[in-house]
Amino acid sequence: MAYNLLKGKKGIIFGALDENSIAWKTAMSVHAEGGTFVLTNAPIAMRMGQIKELAEKTGSQIIPADATSVEDLENLVSQAQEILGGKLDFVLHSIGMSVNVRKGRAYTDEKYDFTAKGWDVSALSFHKVMQSLYKSDAMNEWGSIVALTYMAAQRVFPDYNDMADNKAYLESVARSFGYFFGKEKRVRVNTISQSPTPTTAGQGVKGFDSFISYAEKMSPLGNASAQDCADYTITLFSDLTRKVTMQNLFHDGGFSNTGVSQEVIEKF
Ligand SMILES: NC(=O)c1ccc[n+]([C@@H]2O[C@H](COP(=O)([O-])OP(=O)(O)OC[C@H]3O[C@@H](n4cnc5c(N)ncnc54)[C@H](O)[C@@H]3O)[C@@H](O)[C@H]2O)c1
Repeated sequence: MAYNLLKGKKGIIFGALDENSIAWKTAMSVHAEGGTFVLTNAPIAMRMGQIKELAEKTGSQIIPADATSVEDLENLVSQAQEILGGKLDFVLHSIGMSVNVRKGRAYTDEKYDFTAKGWDVSALSFHKVMQSLYKSDAMNEWGSIVALTYMAAQRVFPDYNDMADNKAYLESVARSFGYFFGKEKRVRVNTISQSPTPTTAGQGVKGFDSFISYAEKMSPLGNASAQDCADYTITLFSDLTRKVTMQNLFHDGGFSNTGVSQEVIEKF
């Protein structure tokens, strides 16, 4: 159901790889709510992914940008404003990748070149995105910036590996930049801490299938899907949440506050 919540609003959506991506669902929902946007992803993902199909469906243009490259990001921010005809109201950072996870290196056996690359892609990129927006004064007042995170930033999930540290850093950047963006530009910055979700990035984590079933049984409302996440993100981009900022917002069906559920006890 659409409520026209984003009518007239303009933005940038990072990270739509295929139709399972959280960013893909969000782009479709933003479009349905009347928002317009530029889609972006790493140049390599353009070749692998189906982003052109999404661009056609939503009447959007695509600007490739490696989120670790300040030059790419500055170009993206200026081109997006040209294409959309003015400053931006919303930005979604939906990017994550751990080289250690990909190469099967355990947390206790990290290769630090891999660690640094994964941190740059998954965490520092959020600072780079916001610094590019901030320095060029690209956000409208009462705009909204959202990044996606996972609860392994607060509690240990062993197979989440170095992504846990990347998410802790990402959440800290949201708070710190949120202060400056709030004070100087009246822009809010939040992270959404999402349930495990069957996407390319999610399924890269070892034991994902068992873990998602466990989370489903632990969450009183069940896991939040990618579409549920898109719906929640729309509210954060809308004018209905103007004073919510510098928060890490759990969107997980209640998982984070559940010690144990009856279903899980019965398994033992
Ligand atoms: N899937 C889950 O279980 C889950 C749970 C909580 C949070 N998250 C977070 O949600 C976000 C989106 O992931 P997803 O689950 O939709 O998976 P996804 O694989 O569909 O999306 C990840 C995106 O990151 C992009 N990316 C990687 N390197 C990049 C770079 N250098 N520059 C620009 N983009 C780059 C990929 O191309 C891809 O589009 C990530 O931050 C992820 O950590 C996912």
